[in-house]
Amino acid sequence: MADEPSGSWRLRDDTIYLNHGSFGPPPEAVRAERLAWLGRLDRQPMDFFVRQLAPAWDEARRRLAEFVGAAAENLVFVPNATAAMNVVAASFPLSSGDEVLLTDHEYGAVRRIWERACARSKAKIATAALPLPIESVEQVIDALFSAATPRTRLLVVSHITSPTAVILPIEDIRREAERREIAVCVDGPHAVAQIELRLDALDCDYYTASCHKWLSAPFGSGFLYVHPRRQTHVEPPILSWGVPPPRRPAAWWEEFFWCGTGDPTPYLSVPAAIEFLKNVGCEAFRAQTHELARYARRRLSELTGLAPPAPDCRQWCGSMTLAPLPPGGRQSLQTALWEKHGIEVPIIEWSGRRFIRVSCHLYNDTSHIDRLVEALAELLRSE
Ligand SMILES: Cc1ncc(COP(=O)(O)O)c(C=O)c1O
Repeated sequence: MADEPSGSWRLRDDTIYLNHGSFGPPPEAVRAERLAWLGRLDRQPMDFFVRQLAPAWDEARRRLAEFVGAAAENLVFVPNATAAMNVVAASFPLSSGDEVLLTDHEYGAVRRIWERACARSKAKIATAALPLPIESVEQVIDALFSAATPRTRLLVVSHITSPTAVILPIEDIRREAERREIAVCVDGPHAVAQIELRLDALDCDYYTASCHKWLSAPFGSGFLYVHPRRQTHVEPPILSWGVPPPRRPAAWWEEFFWCGTGDPTPYLSVPAAIEFLKNVGCEAFRAQTHELARYARRRLSELTGLAPPAPDCRQWCGSMTLAPLPPGGRQSLQTALWEKHGIEVPIIEWSGRRFIRVSCHLYNDTSHIDRLVEALAELLRSE
C-alpha cells in the first residue's frame, strides 16, 4: 500500500472521480482483503461455508457494530441500504389510515419503497417540506413536525440527505419524534464514516446504511440496525435456513446469517475498510475531506454567484457539498462533464432547480476541484 492514503486507490487515469457519495471505490488494501476471502471461498467452498463463514461473519459484525456504536446483537449485514429499508418496510406494522412521514429531501427509491408499503396497508405518505437554505435546528424541527398528525406512526428521515448533502440534526429529530410517540427509521448510508455514529445512544428504532459509500468497503456491503424494542417484528425478505440445521434461529439476527448461498465476502471485508480508515485517523479523514468540500463550495459559488443551501460548518456539511447552478439541462451537463472533461460528478434536479453535488475523498485534491470549476465555466457559457 502507498504511504500516503491518497495513493491507496487505483482509479482510472482518464477520470476525475467526484462521486464517492454514490459509489465509493474501495482502496487497494480493502480490495486485496476481499480477493483473499474470495480465494478461500472459491478454492474450498465446503470449508469456507461450513467452518470459516460463521466465525468470520460474527467477527466482522462485531467490528462494524463497535465502529457505529451499537451492540452486535442489534445489527445485521445486508447488501445495501436499499435492502435494509425494504426489510423495515416489510416489517413495520401499518394499518389503514396510518401515516408515514418523509421529508422532501429523501432518496427517490426510499420514497418508492414506502409508497408501496403504504399502498399495501392502505396507509398514507405525508411529506414535510424542509426549508432551503437550511439555517437552524429549530427551523428543521418545525418544518418536519408541522407535517405530523396523530396518525403518524413512522418518520423516515436521512441522516445526510442525498439530493442536498445536508447533515440533519438527527438527535433533535429523534427526541421530538419520541415526544410525539412516532417511531424513527434513519436512512444513513452517507453518514457511515463521514460522521461519528453512536447508534445505541441515538436510540432510533431502525438505521439503514451502505458501507460501500464513505467507508469504502466492497460493493454489496450494508447493514440494518434494529433497536431491541422492534426486533421481534423484523424478518428477512428472503427466508432460508437462517442458521445451519438442525439448529433453528433463536434471535432475530440469526435469520439474516444464511439467506441462501451467495457471496458474503463484501461483509467479511468491512473490518479491513474500518482498519484502513482508522489508520488514516477518522478525524483526520473528516477534517481533510471537509476542507476540500469547503474549497469546492467556495469556488463553485464564486463561479455561479449563487449561495450554497446550508451553513458552512461541520454541523451541517461533511465531505460532500451541494452548489446551486443556473437553470439548464441536468443530463446534458453531467454527460458533457464526463465526455469532454473526464469528470464524474452528479448534476441533480431537485425541487425544480439544478445543483451539482461534489464528493471529496482522500484521493481528491484541490486540482480536481479547479479542473471541475474550469470545465463548468466553459460548459455553462455555451449552454
Ligand atoms: C440517502 C440515500 N438512501 C439510500 C440510498 C441507497 O443506497 P444503496 O444504493 O447503496 O442501497 C442512497 C444511495 O445513494 C442514498 O443516497
